[in-house]
Amino acid sequence: MPMVTYVLPDGSEHAIDVPCGQTVMDGSVRNNLPGIVAECGGSCSCATCHVYVDPDSQALFDEMTDEERELLEFADGAQADSRLSCQLVVTTECDGVRVTVSAANG
Ligand code: FES
Repeated sequence: MPMVTYVLPDGSEHAIDVPCGQTVMDGSVRNNLPGIVAECGGSCSCATCHVYVDPDSQALFDEMTDEERELLEFADGAQADSRLSCQLVVTTECDGVRVTVSAANG
């Protein structure tokens, strides 16, 4: 099962096995990690699942939809490497990926 490392705003790191087909958001919420709030439950409408993905790892995930891009435009703390973790579907290639959880998720 692919392992995703979540770097939380307090600097702690948590390595979680996330089943293929689930999202990076699912892996956090199902393991009760703080930081990813996911208010909308993954329907790409709240931006409280904001993470930063290393440039080298961006290609492991599907490209951003217009919906995701528009939400991120208005998200606090948005950067070039921002993504919404509910839109990041985990595949076997994602094993070892690291995401940094935004401190602005609420
Ligand atoms: S969980 Fe709401 S946008 Fe990702």
